[in-house]
Amino acid sequence: MREGTAQLIRREDYAAPAFWIRTVDLTFDLDPAKTLVINKMTVEPNAEQPGAPLRLDGEDINLLRVLVDGEPVSFRTEGSQLVLENLPQQPFHLEIRTTCAPEKNTQLSGLYTSSGGFFTQCEALGFRRITYFLDRPDVMATYKVTLKADKLKYPVLLSNGNLVEEGVLEGGKHFAVWVDPHPKPCYLFALVAADLVRREQRIRTRAGKDHLLQIYVRAGDLDKTEHAMNSLIASIAWDEAKFGLSLDLERFMIVAVSDFNMGAMENKGLNIFNTKFVLANPATATDVDFGNVESVVAHEYFHNWTGNRVTCRDWFQLSLKEGLTVFRDQQFSQDMAGSRSARAVKRIEDVRTLRQLQFPEDAGPMAHPVRPDSYVAIDNFYTATVYEKGSEVVRMMHTLVGDEGFRKGMALYFERHDGQAVTCDDFAQAIADANPGSELANRLEPFKRWYAQAGTPRVTARGSYDADNHIYTLSLSQRSAPTPGQPDKAPYVIPVAMGLVGRDGRQINLQLEGHLNSLGHDTVLVLSEPEQTFTFVHVPVEPVPSLLRGFSAPVVLEAEHSDDALFTLLSHDHDPFNRWEAGQQLALNRILAAVRGDGYIELDARYLHAMREVLRHPELDAAFKELVLTLPSEAYVAEQLDVVDPQRIHTVRESLKRQLAHALHEDWIWAWEQFHDNGAYSPDARSAGHRALANLALAMLVLDGSLRQNPIWPGKALQRFKDATNMTDRLGALQALVNAHAELAGPALERFHAQFKGEALVIDKWFTLQATAPEHDGKVFARARALMQHPDFTLRTPNRARSLLMALCQSNPAAFHRTDAAGYVFWADRVIEIDGINPQLAARLARALDHWRRLAEPYRTAAREAISRVAARPELSDDVREIVTRALQ
Ligand code: PHE
Ligand code: ZN
Repeated sequence: MREGTAQLIRREDYAAPAFWIRTVDLTFDLDPAKTLVINKMTVEPNAEQPGAPLRLDGEDINLLRVLVDGEPVSFRTEGSQLVLENLPQQPFHLEIRTTCAPEKNTQLSGLYTSSGGFFTQCEALGFRRITYFLDRPDVMATYKVTLKADKLKYPVLLSNGNLVEEGVLEGGKHFAVWVDPHPKPCYLFALVAADLVRREQRIRTRAGKDHLLQIYVRAGDLDKTEHAMNSLIASIAWDEAKFGLSLDLERFMIVAVSDFNMGAMENKGLNIFNTKFVLANPATATDVDFGNVESVVAHEYFHNWTGNRVTCRDWFQLSLKEGLTVFRDQQFSQDMAGSRSARAVKRIEDVRTLRQLQFPEDAGPMAHPVRPDSYVAIDNFYTATVYEKGSEVVRMMHTLVGDEGFRKGMALYFERHDGQAVTCDDFAQAIADANPGSELANRLEPFKRWYAQAGTPRVTARGSYDADNHIYTLSLSQRSAPTPGQPDKAPYVIPVAMGLVGRDGRQINLQLEGHLNSLGHDTVLVLSEPEQTFTFVHVPVEPVPSLLRGFSAPVVLEAEHSDDALFTLLSHDHDPFNRWEAGQQLALNRILAAVRGDGYIELDARYLHAMREVLRHPELDAAFKELVLTLPSEAYVAEQLDVVDPQRIHTVRESLKRQLAHALHEDWIWAWEQFHDNGAYSPDARSAGHRALANLALAMLVLDGSLRQNPIWPGKALQRFKDATNMTDRLGALQALVNAHAELAGPALERFHAQFKGEALVIDKWFTLQATAPEHDGKVFARARALMQHPDFTLRTPNRARSLLMALCQSNPAAFHRTDAAGYVFWADRVIEIDGINPQLAARLARALDHWRRLAEPYRTAAREAISRVAARPELSDDVREIVTRALQ
């Protein structure tokens, strides 16, 4: 374990390596208890640092011998590093033999076993757990890999690149030799040796090249690979069509593994996936799962260019590949969704995620810039900030230079940097240089503050209308609160996409004072000063400003709209994102008033009428309606408050939900009848939207029925649960029963478990469903705690641990935050317990109490005690230590 070495690593300390490793020839003799690794490298001294020692990273491996140009040499170890001195000043051969114990590797970094097979995970610092190496992304080498293993147990032997040789060996073993012609950093190395089956397909791309695509899974899972294959083929076609980027490998493989810390990994030519993000069929996966598979397959595939061909100079530049690749997968999924409305739905979902995960991160103890300045454990910086906010930064560049300009910028980026390890600055520079005269090029330095400054800026908008002169003046100002280590912030460059909407819904023509040309109905204002005023002329009626359309920047907008203005936007805005936003704001204002007031809420007729109008609207898409009619989450409500009482928020939001369920009863029946369906399943956006709305309607009807002891809708839901032809509808019906605490929920849960006991990913859903039910008299917490003892539960498989623990501690505030502190005690015990098994996983769970400082009493004091108890343990991993130390600072 990397325990106890806690050292702060700083971006400003970056120095090029003293040596380059040009080629690597690895031989693995695979054995779960003791695997032998022979690593033969050609090493070249960096002429700029003559005479420096070679310091190789290693962790949890046993060193057998070191040869330089075939001769044994003396060496020493310093901490976990292997240090070699007096080395040749010309290129030389270095051979290192080590052993490791894959079956003991429970942290799932390096070489480990899962369900009897061998798998690797090297990003960020896993390669050092396989062999001694310069484990940093700016050292790029070509790899030849020989795998030897028992033929019966491990019939499939895979590594990066192309298979050049295979055959049998003595003693029931066989071997395979793989060569990857593309130089790569070691974090992209991978191997797999396991008993797997595959789906494969040959394709010819637009460029006229032939490729072999393969997806490897366990024997029972082959019927869950079609969607991933289709997604991969679509991704390849999209990157070629959109950016002219084609597949540079003859063979592209995806392997599914059930023990995995993250979503998936973009190893060159051999992507390794958490089963959750590759396996899907209608019987076991929901629409959300299908969508996730599509986007994660695309994400990893897109990394082949943004991440692999051009990689990161150091780990501070992580967003160079992650922010850009998330932006690309989001654009891809929007294009796959098709219609303008379906694209908007995807955008709304992405923004919801950003606000739910990244905004709180930016407001808490882990706040860090998209390009961090320092870290202890890099694993802790695979965050919503680096990924999702990083993607928003790329999106803003796209907005500022336009779609065609962005394409040119990408082309210049690859022209300049293909084959290199570069920085976020290099990327921004390429996009700007390809677009001289653009808003981005003109303000590149201030724009790059998005990379350097942490925290979510707040933009305040004030408008005034001069009816006599038909002039509308819009003042925008920005301010940013201090974050840890950054007391003062300079202004950001903020693209504000906007339009003006008349009270009757008409779109108002935009013309800025002093400009001859009209801007049409839509424009992008660029706010780059602390405060700026924009004057629109020839505005015939008093408008409602529709600001930040499509969520054009990751900021909190304080528009201070009246209810009237929000109702106007909800019914008339031309921008679907802002229509949704207005609906959320209407609900949020009501919830906040009650939370800040006496906790009592009674929905007004006007709000209910507006919701009914949306629900019954003849033109709006079902998916969009479902988003508007879903209330803002408890976490998002908490974000708006300086002092958070999770129980109070829960009570108010639940009350609002019940009123919505009751008051719109007839409308929910209408929606259910209109949109539920028994036809063949198709994962397309339109059908998924129908299912989403039908399931929301069902949930509302069951909730209202249960509250009024009316068994009709709970009964219908049970029937639906039994008859459903796909997992989306089956889980939807089950969730409706569970969330309403209906009596039928218990038997339905049992039946569900019995029906899917062989499907690990479905059993994960079974745990999550119970751990995320709306808290009710402490029963949900008690149930979740009891589920720890269920025979199917284990802390060793991250998906399973998360399905219960993250669900409870992160996604169910009212069950977790208890006045008796039992939730926090439970949390601390689990963090400590998991830290001994898998520090990365423990550190994720540790973040559930990031926001303890904003909690009301008695939660606040109890939370601090729980965090302090964890922090007081002497034997913590660096990962968990960094999180709890920051939380207490
Ligand atoms: N690089 C992976 C991705 O985002 C994520 C990952 C990070 C996976 C670290 C494993 C370990 O595509
Ligand atoms: Zn990624």
